[in-house]
Amino acid sequence: MGENLFKLIRMKITLITGAGRGIGLSISEKFYSEDHNLILLVRSNNQKRGLEKKFDKKKVKIFVGDLANYSFIKKIAKKINFVHNIINNAGTRNDNHIHGVKKSDLDYLIDVNFKATFYLTQIFTKKMIKKKIKGSVVNLSSQLGHVGAYNRTVYCSSKFAVEGFTKAAALDLGKYGIRINTIAPTKTIVNKKELLFTKKRLAIIRNKIPLKKFTEKEDIAELCLFLTSSASKNITGSSIKIDGGWTAGK
Ligand SMILES: NC(=O)c1ccc[n+]([C@@H]2O[C@H](COP(=O)([O-])OP(=O)(O)OC[C@H]3O[C@@H](n4cnc5c(N)ncnc54)[C@H](OP(=O)(O)O)[C@@H]3O)[C@@H](O)[C@H]2O)c1
Repeated sequence: MGENLFKLIRMKITLITGAGRGIGLSISEKFYSEDHNLILLVRSNNQKRGLEKKFDKKKVKIFVGDLANYSFIKKIAKKINFVHNIINNAGTRNDNHIHGVKKSDLDYLIDVNFKATFYLTQIFTKKMIKKKIKGSVVNLSSQLGHVGAYNRTVYCSSKFAVEGFTKAAALDLGKYGIRINTIAPTKTIVNKKELLFTKKRLAIIRNKIPLKKFTEKEDIAELCLFLTSSASKNITGSSIKIDGGWTAGK
């Protein structure tokens, strides 16, 4: 699975959500460095300006909007004819005990983490089929799409939904040669400040990971690239856990 193999087999236009920071930014940088054309979805004009400075305008189109808003998704669908790859990365969290979860929190988180993934996949795989593109969809799930955790009823519900959706969609899309998989990371440091301000909490989490290592966002980006390349041509409906063994057992 050397670099040259990726260069020969890569596909061209990749849509990435939540591209303005964190894991999404790393994925965008990776795909850009591998010569993909990018469709990047971000939530603020500030992030759009930052990305415009970083990337060549001819290769990257950036759209600003809220993925909880279905009309934004419809707008993207109208503006973009087709893509080869979809990376559904954008996500948000809720750390409330089950009894502290408000209806609006549940609705919002399911809209962003699950429904946006569903709708973008539905819309853009239809376009792939029309163009006979054997594309790839990668959904950012979590170790908490496989096991529960305290105070994570909403987050776990959304990521289990993403896992179930991915498996069922793999069946519907397989006959068109379209693949769909998830990546399920353990704790991934996206903001260096975390290392300073939440040391104690991070130490507890790290201790629960058999390999005693957090996941690195660059490793997730590399996995995304693998899942969009023909090196993964017979992988669909799978979840690749990059969790240092967290979900392997107690
Ligand atoms: N970091 C981890 O430890 C970890 C572990 C397992 C799984 N994951 C999953 O990996 C993915 C990326 O996580 P991350 O750590 O990079 O998160 P992050 O740093 O919080 O970034 C989340 C991204 O999603 C965007 N987003 C959130 N709500 C949105 C909305 N309503 N509309 C449009 N965009 C929205 C954010 O935009 P703004 O910048 O505007 O907020 C941001 O770009 C998520 O799906 C997360 O659940 C992360």
